[in-house]
Amino acid sequence: ATAYAADLVVFGGTGDLSMRKLLPALYHCDRDGRLSPETRIIAMSRGGLTDDDFRGKVDAGVRRQVPADDPDGWRRFLGRLHHVSVDVGRRAGGDDTDLPGWSALAALLAGQEERDRVFYLASPPRTFGPFCRELAAAGLVTPRSRVVLEKPLGHDLVSARRINDEVGAIFDERQIFRIDHYLGKETVQNLLVLRFANAFLEPIWNSLWIDHVQITVAETVGTPGRRGYYDHAGALRDMVQNHLLQLLCMTAMEPPARNDREAIRDEKVKVLQSLLPITGTEADRFTVRGQYTEAAGMPGYLHEPGSTPPTEASRRVETFAAIRAEIRNWRWAGVPFYLRTGKRLPRRTSEIVVQFKDVPHSIFPGGTPNRLVLRLQPEEGIELHIMAKEPGAGEVALKPVPLSLSFGETFTARVPEAYERLLTDVLAANPTLFMRRDEVEAAWRWIDPILAAWESSADLPEPYPAGSTGPAGAHELLGRSGRAWHEEEA
Ligand code: BG6
Repeated sequence: ATAYAADLVVFGGTGDLSMRKLLPALYHCDRDGRLSPETRIIAMSRGGLTDDDFRGKVDAGVRRQVPADDPDGWRRFLGRLHHVSVDVGRRAGGDDTDLPGWSALAALLAGQEERDRVFYLASPPRTFGPFCRELAAAGLVTPRSRVVLEKPLGHDLVSARRINDEVGAIFDERQIFRIDHYLGKETVQNLLVLRFANAFLEPIWNSLWIDHVQITVAETVGTPGRRGYYDHAGALRDMVQNHLLQLLCMTAMEPPARNDREAIRDEKVKVLQSLLPITGTEADRFTVRGQYTEAAGMPGYLHEPGSTPPTEASRRVETFAAIRAEIRNWRWAGVPFYLRTGKRLPRRTSEIVVQFKDVPHSIFPGGTPNRLVLRLQPEEGIELHIMAKEPGAGEVALKPVPLSLSFGETFTARVPEAYERLLTDVLAANPTLFMRRDEVEAAWRWIDPILAAWESSADLPEPYPAGSTGPAGAHELLGRSGRAWHEEEA
């Protein structure tokens, strides 16, 4: 339990992320006694709001997302909220006129240097460098300060490095917390416990016993209202560079010597550095990109209601990506890691599927190899598919049956949202579940050549109907080696 008094300053504090994720998570932290009574939450935005306006906005927008059983606690939470208006966009664009927001923030923070200070940048990445410089120029960066960077952390390796350099000019690496909210998900942390607190898995967690691994993050949502961002991102930058590669690292990393921030991140970075590069024409064989089209009453990507009309660039954006990745090290050589993510797929599922090899010698007809499924979403759980004998006195008949663990049923405690864990860790200055600079850059180093191959290709992404399981190419990616995606049995 941390209860240091802190000032949490959120840039983009009235934005979507703040209202949907950060503030509800902070309320839960407060409710569970993880915020000191003096801790303040200061939202920075262009909104021109007073503290009371902001509290009203949060009362109207956030209250219905949290349990309603503690009105006093909710009032106390609202009391922590402050708002400072700053035209952050103008300043970040290089305009030099002094803006009142920074002095207002300085006035609010004056005399509080002993507190932990967290600057949470939930604002576009082009603002990261300028904001850090402004904070330093206003004398607001104290030794107890930390900065939290939301994704996207750059657009490619060059821009990621530039951001890292700019932020690194003001903050030490130990003060920089790069968020990947997938690392805050319970199942992802459980993966480490499953792997490294149980003896039976590690001996078979390698190419001798594992045929391949599938990592899927499927979403039913489309991209309404997000064209401005998504046209320049696409699934590879939005999901694979960060979330899917982080899941891959957690699945594939070597056992760390200690459960500590550097030991774990050292092992993750080694996985990223061992990824076999996919360059040039290899991208045609090892990657698939798709874009959803109108179907089943849902608009296609090009016709999603968006803030800006579709352009030539919109036609080239992938809303689905699948990749056959390979890790070139002793443990994993020859084991494909299939990564897949997409919007407007039939079901929201995030899962890691570890497909074991078949038994070396079968004495029964009809067996299927074991499979371990780690489900992140919708219901967090772990399933081990094993072969069992179907009851009966006739011929032995095999049937795959799941040994399954549902976190919801086994543990009665509420499963916290990813942001609760991550905000708690930021406040406790624990960066284990945040991405280190070398990790982010190693991930971009692998992604960049794929982006380049796609950009130089004359082909457009393969169309797939909204609500379908993705482009045919994604099925062929596995099908040509006799494999298939694990789809939930109905
Ligand atoms: C975000 C992406 O990082 O993750 C979104 O920008 C995506 O496009 C979201 O929808 C998915 O997160 P979750 O926690 O809902 O799986």
